[in-house]
Amino acid sequence: MSQELFDQVYKKDKTVFIPSESLCDFYKTKAKTWVDRIEERVPLSILELGCGRGTLFENTDLSEMEERLLLITGIDYSFWAIEKAKSRWRTMRSDFPNLNVQFFMKNVLDGPQLEKNYHVVLDSHLYHCLLDKNDQLKALKNVRASLKKGGIFVLETMVSHEGMRFQDPFFYEEKNSLLLKEDRWGTLIAFRSIPSPLEIERSILETGFSIEYFTIPTLLRIIPDEKRREPLDTDPQCLRIICRKT
Ligand SMILES: C[S@@+](CC[C@H](N)C(=O)[O-])C[C@H]1O[C@@H](n2cnc3c(N)ncnc32)[C@H](O)[C@@H]1O
Repeated sequence: MSQELFDQVYKKDKTVFIPSESLCDFYKTKAKTWVDRIEERVPLSILELGCGRGTLFENTDLSEMEERLLLITGIDYSFWAIEKAKSRWRTMRSDFPNLNVQFFMKNVLDGPQLEKNYHVVLDSHLYHCLLDKNDQLKALKNVRASLKKGGIFVLETMVSHEGMRFQDPFFYEEKNSLLLKEDRWGTLIAFRSIPSPLEIERSILETGFSIEYFTIPTLLRIIPDEKRREPLDTDPQCLRIICRKT
């Protein structure tokens, strides 16, 4: 899905932003343990990629779990997503005394992000929106360049499995690992990338990260169709990775 399409969707969207349940769960149940091991007694700087209309830390459980000041930089390449994120944050910042949040319109493919010394980079479901394998590698390289030495990258993304199936208007193109969606004029538009777990592992290692946590929770699925709430066994699986810049 292109930048323009994301922007059109965000411009029209009137729903209330709710941080992704599965990302919050991943952070609370696993990533937080890695974050706690960062011992520097300074505010913790976190870069959130593909934040959309708000940050994950607007989930109060997440922000209350952290005693340190969190400096959060949310980036997204959609103008409307960032406008909405900024205006929403203005109305709620006083409820989050330990968060210092900034949002920027930025493409993750445009070089290392803003500063080059984040403790944590968190992929907020952006990676599976990168449809080209070269872009995926480029994004991973930029993530690595944005981290401090010893910093961590937290990624949750869709992966394929043997039982994965789709119904109209979605089609899976195996050779490119792409999920396509038919629009109302019958044109197929590449929508998400759903590679195998092995392919993602290879890309991450190729970028020079060391993988410290890699799991595919058996029952967890990511629903690619935003209109559906209930997951199906045939939906893509969810790969959770924590890796380090050594
Ligand atoms: C699946 S959405 C997730 C949004 C939000 N994190 C959430 O959980 O609701 C992916 C987001 O990544 C953004 N995105 C996709 N490709 C991007 C890129 N190359 N650079 C920056 N943002 C991008 C999209 O605009 C979109 O907001």
